[in-house]
Amino acid sequence: MIKLEKVSKIFGTGAAGLSDINLVIDKGEFVFLVGHTGSGKTTLLRLLIREMLPSEGTIFIGDLDVVALPQQKIPHLRKKIGVVFQDLKLLMDRTIFENVILPLEIIGFKKEEAAKRVEELLEQVGILEHRDKFPVQLSGGEMQRAAIARALTLSPDILLADEPTGNLDSKTAFDIVELLSKINQNGTTVIMATHNLDLLKKYAKNRVIALEKGKVIRDQKHAKEEHSAEKKVEEKSQETKEQSKREPVTKIEKPEKKGEKK
Ligand SMILES: Nc1ncnc2c1ncn2[C@@H]1O[C@H](COP(=O)(O)OP(=O)(O)OP(=O)(O)O)[C@@H](O)[C@H]1O
Ligand SMILES: [Mg+2]
Repeated sequence: MIKLEKVSKIFGTGAAGLSDINLVIDKGEFVFLVGHTGSGKTTLLRLLIREMLPSEGTIFIGDLDVVALPQQKIPHLRKKIGVVFQDLKLLMDRTIFENVILPLEIIGFKKEEAAKRVEELLEQVGILEHRDKFPVQLSGGEMQRAAIARALTLSPDILLADEPTGNLDSKTAFDIVELLSKINQNGTTVIMATHNLDLLKKYAKNRVIALEKGKVIRDQKHAKEEHSAEKKVEEKSQETKEQSKREPVTKIEKPEKKGEKK
């Protein structure tokens, strides 16, 4: 579980990145973080991985107190959270295979096991055939896939993807979200920052957290279900009105059926 309480971030320049954010994101959720440019999406993601500290407030990832975390425990936090950065941060002088294997090399994984894991990951994200190419030799969508594979190398509990569909055409963008969705179905919590509101229409079941000027202005869980629930209530009240026209007011209402799911 990710929990932010009264989190604010004021930069040295005086710019307010975030102000008074309260959020709980459960394990296994797939959340879209939306908002105009400058609304605080990247700031929020950077706070979660302790790339910087908030000016105020507390952040918990599971039982890890992110703000109070001693420097030497930051790698432990970063193992739990894979990140696809807005600018990808792929190393241009290394092949895709070398980029993805790097986190495993750093923690001293056995070479053969690491290579096997990387091949599995590249297969999973659909770019195994490009393993020996350099990032500049890939398309935008393929590069995103490489960055996603690298973010998953250490099997994180949480995947943060910052505008992963930024420069992609709509079909490729949709494929990337499908990939993230599959990763989420395997149990990883996914938070995806995006401007692309068209995508949200296709994923109306996902939670959408909207930021504006550093504040949460909307937090909508399962938009479609809420919408249909609202519709049912509307329909029901319409029915009741019509019934009350026809029936005497003294009529005893039937008890609601139990065990019905919304
Ligand atoms: N390092 C920094 N120093 C000063 N101000 C910053 C810094 N990083 C971000 N900001 C400011 O904080 C606000 C939020 O920025 P942030 O990068 O989080 O927005 P964003 O929602 O990710 O935007 P985009 O959609 O363009 O990526 C902006 O006003 C920005 O100028
Ligand atoms: Mg950003």
